[in-house]
Amino acid sequence: MFAVYATAPSPDDPLAALEIGDRPEPEVPDGWVAVSVKAASLNMHDLWTLRGVGIKAERFPMILGCDGAGVLADGTEVVLHSVIGDPAWAGDETLDPTRTLLTEKHQGSFADTVIVPARNALPKPEGLSFAEAACMGTAWLTAYRMLFVKSGLRPGQTMLVQGASGGVSTALIELGKAAGLRVWVTGRTEEKRALATELGAHAVFESGARLPEKVDGVFETVGKATWSHSMRALKPGGIIVVSGSTSGPDPSADLQRLFFLQLRVVGSTMGTRDELADLLRFCDTAGIKPRIGAEMPFKQARDGFQQMLDGETAGKIVFTG
Ligand SMILES: NC(=O)c1ccc[n+]([C@@H]2O[C@H](COP(=O)([O-])OP(=O)(O)OC[C@H]3O[C@@H](n4cnc5c(N)ncnc54)[C@H](OP(=O)(O)O)[C@@H]3O)[C@@H](O)[C@H]2O)c1
Repeated sequence: MFAVYATAPSPDDPLAALEIGDRPEPEVPDGWVAVSVKAASLNMHDLWTLRGVGIKAERFPMILGCDGAGVLADGTEVVLHSVIGDPAWAGDETLDPTRTLLTEKHQGSFADTVIVPARNALPKPEGLSFAEAACMGTAWLTAYRMLFVKSGLRPGQTMLVQGASGGVSTALIELGKAAGLRVWVTGRTEEKRALATELGAHAVFESGARLPEKVDGVFETVGKATWSHSMRALKPGGIIVVSGSTSGPDPSADLQRLFFLQLRVVGSTMGTRDELADLLRFCDTAGIKPRIGAEMPFKQARDGFQQMLDGETAGKIVFTG
């Protein structure tokens, strides 16, 4: 079948490992379903996979894509939940030590067909197109959990999102706005800050800019490049929720500020199946549409990867079958 895959780890030149071609049709184990993929979105995770980060070398070649939307054999339209763990695990699946995301152990969604455990295929809301639904399983689910499960922020409080145009950032802006938070955003260029404003941000700032007042919570995926700004942005008792470190981890965690102002730093990863179901319902009932910055056929996937590698995002990058 047709697939977009990684041939081998390529730490310094990730796109050198990107291949667009044929992979074997998957066999469907008991309890799993085959999903005919209509759309899937690109995540930074796919670039990490090409670099060999978070995946064992013996798992290559690996079909990329850790979210998506498609159709089951009986015609049911579904959205993928990418977190796959021990079927006997009870409770929060993201805490199962054996859990992996699609593309870490099991083949991903940038293909004609992807297989997942039956419980990982959720009904697609009618109000979301396949391309929109394909944004939900990774970036949007991560943003939902950061904001509504981990941060403890209330409507009316102020949240700062580091980065304006990325998948997780745009989701945080749209979700925060819809939930009644005051949304402040940093962006690296005027164009990216304008996008944040268009998505509903109440104020936008250059990266590292002094803010007019301290905020209740900061949402971090950037890491080293923005971390000290995030620490300085918080009110006493404020919280940073962190789910990524695109620019690298920061070795100086600013510990004095952390304990003296009684700040909290909380990690967050993906989300549970139930949280994805709630996110889908929230988007459907509130009429929230994920911002898609670029949409292209799977055959042109290399262009999408290049855009993300160059930092040229304007919302999610979606591939369609
Ligand atoms: N833990 C999890 O479950 C989980 C899930 C999803 C993503 N993540 C992680 O979250 C990160 C973002 O993923 P994504 O898919 O949203 O990527 P993306 O779409 O490529 O977005 C990257 C974002 O990072 C910002 N950024 C990058 N380098 C920066 C720098 N030097 N200074 C300031 N801002 C910078 C960009 O800001 P501008 O808009 O200003 O360019 C942009 O908003 C990745 O590290 C990814 O691995 C983790």
